[in-house]
Amino acid sequence: MKAEKNININPLPSGGLGRASIVGVLGAGSMGAGIAQIAASQGHQTILVDLNAEALENAKTSLNKVLKRLEEKGRIDSVEKVFNNITFSQKITDFSDCGIVIEAIIENIDIKQKVFTSLEDIVSEDCILASNTSSLSIASIASSCSKPERVIGIHFFNPAPLMPLVEIIPAVQTSEETKNSSRTLIDGWKKVTVLTKDTPGFIVNRVARPFYGEALRIYEEGVADFATIDWAMTELGGFRMGPFTLMDYIGNDVNYTVTETVFAAFYYDPRYKPSFTQKRHSEAGWFGRKSGRGYYNYAEGAIQPQPNKDAVLGKQILDRILMMLINEAVDALFLNIATKEDIDLAMTKGVNYPKGLLAWADEIGLNNVLNSLETMFAEYGEDRYRPSPLLRRMVKDNKTFY
Ligand SMILES: NC(=O)c1ccc[n+]([C@@H]2O[C@H](COP(=O)([O-])OP(=O)(O)OC[C@H]3O[C@@H](n4cnc5c(N)ncnc54)[C@H](O)[C@@H]3O)[C@@H](O)[C@H]2O)c1
Repeated sequence: MKAEKNININPLPSGGLGRASIVGVLGAGSMGAGIAQIAASQGHQTILVDLNAEALENAKTSLNKVLKRLEEKGRIDSVEKVFNNITFSQKITDFSDCGIVIEAIIENIDIKQKVFTSLEDIVSEDCILASNTSSLSIASIASSCSKPERVIGIHFFNPAPLMPLVEIIPAVQTSEETKNSSRTLIDGWKKVTVLTKDTPGFIVNRVARPFYGEALRIYEEGVADFATIDWAMTELGGFRMGPFTLMDYIGNDVNYTVTETVFAAFYYDPRYKPSFTQKRHSEAGWFGRKSGRGYYNYAEGAIQPQPNKDAVLGKQILDRILMMLINEAVDALFLNIATKEDIDLAMTKGVNYPKGLLAWADEIGLNNVLNSLETMFAEYGEDRYRPSPLLRRMVKDNKTFY
């Protein structure tokens, strides 16, 4: 392991890491390139490493394009100023002077563990090692290090430079110092940070599950088609994208895999059960926009299905999905995954929900939310619809979240 004296001493006002302000980013895919862009724009000397030369070349080209656009819009002084802060490299040994390394490589626990073990042999004693994983346990990544207290989850959203939210995920092994320094650094990058427990899906990817799952279930029951469900959620609910448009955008293959992973990680809790409709779309290669076909047809000139704009049906769809989302948010609070403020911030800043779900629940009335869930629970007899114990407790005590 490298001695402490080798840390590059280069304090920056925007960085929370104090003396060690060189930022390493491992993986130059869409997330890694975005994170490197943020760090370099904040004035950090940034080292972007990928094993694959082509990935590095692509990152270079796309970063150049993005920065040029930002320069034209006057959002940055000059492309060169930011670009000159980034070193593109294929060698992880170039991380030796970094104060923090943020890993954004393939989502595979065995590979991530191996990488973290090798990183420790390169970086200094007090370098923070962070993972941008969306679904893996930070504790298991940290367990591959001899100093697991320096490991933390720092979860950016896609596209990283544009999405304000970053989830900070200390593992059970993470030290207070690592947690505080990481949060201060990312806050300094003008991001909105929320603190979350190291449980599957963290806040956003856990609480958002019913947005997809309940929409698919409504479709499977024949209540409404894709276009009608999307219309209800956008026009009546104020969501920026309907669930099917969003799944087509994310990619059905990616979204299905996340759902399957979260379902397994929650020991097969029926609330997170994946859908056959999505599985079949994925198996058919109907991934969405990227494959030209998903729930919708993206071929040029394709005729798009029109929604049934029946107000009663629309409200029924919106209410059903919204109640399930609120229940998920309440349960996350019940299980101390995060504070109520952070749960609401995460959904508004990470996935652009029109309101925080707990604030929305107050507005609707907690007794109304509980009644809707109990009606569904009685009708279906499925654990999927069981109201959170916290919701029951709050209604009983006549309380609100805010
Ligand atoms: N894409 C998203 O929407 C999103 C959002 C949040 C978090 N994440 C997480 O971020 C991480 C990266 O996701 P992505 O979408 O940018 O992936 P990606 O496939 O676009 O990029 C991954 C890059 O890592 C490189 N790589 C793989 N193994 C490597 C190794 N051992 N050393 C160096 N480089 C290596 C690959 O060459 C590739 O360029 C994953 O953990 C993912 O779960 C993704």
